[in-house]
Amino acid sequence: MPATSQLDDTLLRCIGCGAVTAVAESGLTCEKCGNLLEVVFPHPGADAQALNADRLKAVWRERRTSQLPQDQSGVWRFREVLPPLGKEHAPITIREGNTPLYELFLGSRLTGVRQLYAKHQGMNPTGSFKDTGMTVAASFARKDGFRWVACASTGNTSASMAAYAARGGMHSLVLIPDGKISWGKLSQSLDYGAVTCQVKTDFDGCMRILNGIVQRKPIYVLNSINPFRLEGQKTVAFELMEQFDWQPPDHIIVPGGNLGNSSALGKAFQEMKELGLVTRLPKISIIQAEGANPLVRTIREKGGKELVSVQAETMATAIRIGSPASWKKALRILEVTGGAVEQVTEVEIALAKAEIGADGIGCEPASAVTLAGLKKLVKQGFVKANESVVLVLTGHLLKDPDFTLKFHRGDLFQGTPYQKEAAMLAPRQRAPIVLEDSVDAVLQTLESAERQS
Ligand code: F0G
Repeated sequence: MPATSQLDDTLLRCIGCGAVTAVAESGLTCEKCGNLLEVVFPHPGADAQALNADRLKAVWRERRTSQLPQDQSGVWRFREVLPPLGKEHAPITIREGNTPLYELFLGSRLTGVRQLYAKHQGMNPTGSFKDTGMTVAASFARKDGFRWVACASTGNTSASMAAYAARGGMHSLVLIPDGKISWGKLSQSLDYGAVTCQVKTDFDGCMRILNGIVQRKPIYVLNSINPFRLEGQKTVAFELMEQFDWQPPDHIIVPGGNLGNSSALGKAFQEMKELGLVTRLPKISIIQAEGANPLVRTIREKGGKELVSVQAETMATAIRIGSPASWKKALRILEVTGGAVEQVTEVEIALAKAEIGADGIGCEPASAVTLAGLKKLVKQGFVKANESVVLVLTGHLLKDPDFTLKFHRGDLFQGTPYQKEAAMLAPRQRAPIVLEDSVDAVLQTLESAERQS
């Protein structure tokens, strides 16, 4: 962050040693101990009356009928809990947030959980939850006069960053692992005009390169180590509580990759409790893919004391991350809320994704770890049938059509060690049916489908 920043009304606290600094004097990590930073809340100079719980609820509700861009945004609508941008700066908004909360009927039958919901963050403008954080961090980048923004990404952060940079008149540099992200996500950052580099390494390698670049160039980093990103991502929790009339569900389940999202959700609930908006915290549980499970191993093998990095491998490419930056923040959220951490197999992810699809909702593979994880947490007795559960679906079904097509054609696990286990997917597979040009051919197909249904 630049030495010229005027953001003295925002303070950052180190999550390790607790040192508090003004944004203007901070980098992205603590100068004393190297840990990540978080925005201090309430912000200095905040008007205590403006933070009255009843007043906040009323103001946020009222803004839903406003025509102003900053009120139509489901993020800036909650601006009292965001770092102040200042009246003279307009936020960069594409009307992010305001995402639907769906009941999962099939999911409920499959898990036995009677109150099961999906908060669908894939319904954001670029199709993932990243937009809620990007609108805030990109707005601060522009306010600070940056011409360039950059990120390392598994595809969604880059798509989102490229869009917000374009809307804000900034240039963007994207570093993605070569060959390991979905074409849908790659095509987004191309269309939004980013300089897109497919680097011959994995996500963790892209992060290392980005760190090297920012040492040499005045480029603003928009990965989730940026504390402003997480401030924006907090708002999904505020919005969710509004949808639940401020009565928290018993459980919230999120996928874990770089672990920014779980941290942001937890921070939001802590702040809501401090503000008197809620009286208790939901348990926030984090699910990882078995092949990209650094948090699971960090807890099981090291008691959370030190990070166990892994060589990540999963078809849920969004969470193919072996060294998550925000692991300490996520651990704290697990502790504070009493959530669990679990891992799921590739086949379990594929099945859960098809089940969310069959509920008429759909999501990308990484989001489906939530349902797969819930099944395990129910079996273990951690989640009870009479408790309410919200799955955070982080990305849209159309983000990764390749995965979906291969699944339905039965090719997804061909030639992999999972081929045998994948036989159980057959009842959910709906391969496209190629037919002759005739009414009879289609009718026969219809009748055979009727017999099976
Ligand atoms: N789900 C989706 C669809 C994602 O794209 C990501 C992360 C996650 C879950 C995990 O969230 O990192 O906050 O724990 N994607 C990043 C990216 C890393 O570059 O798009 P997290």
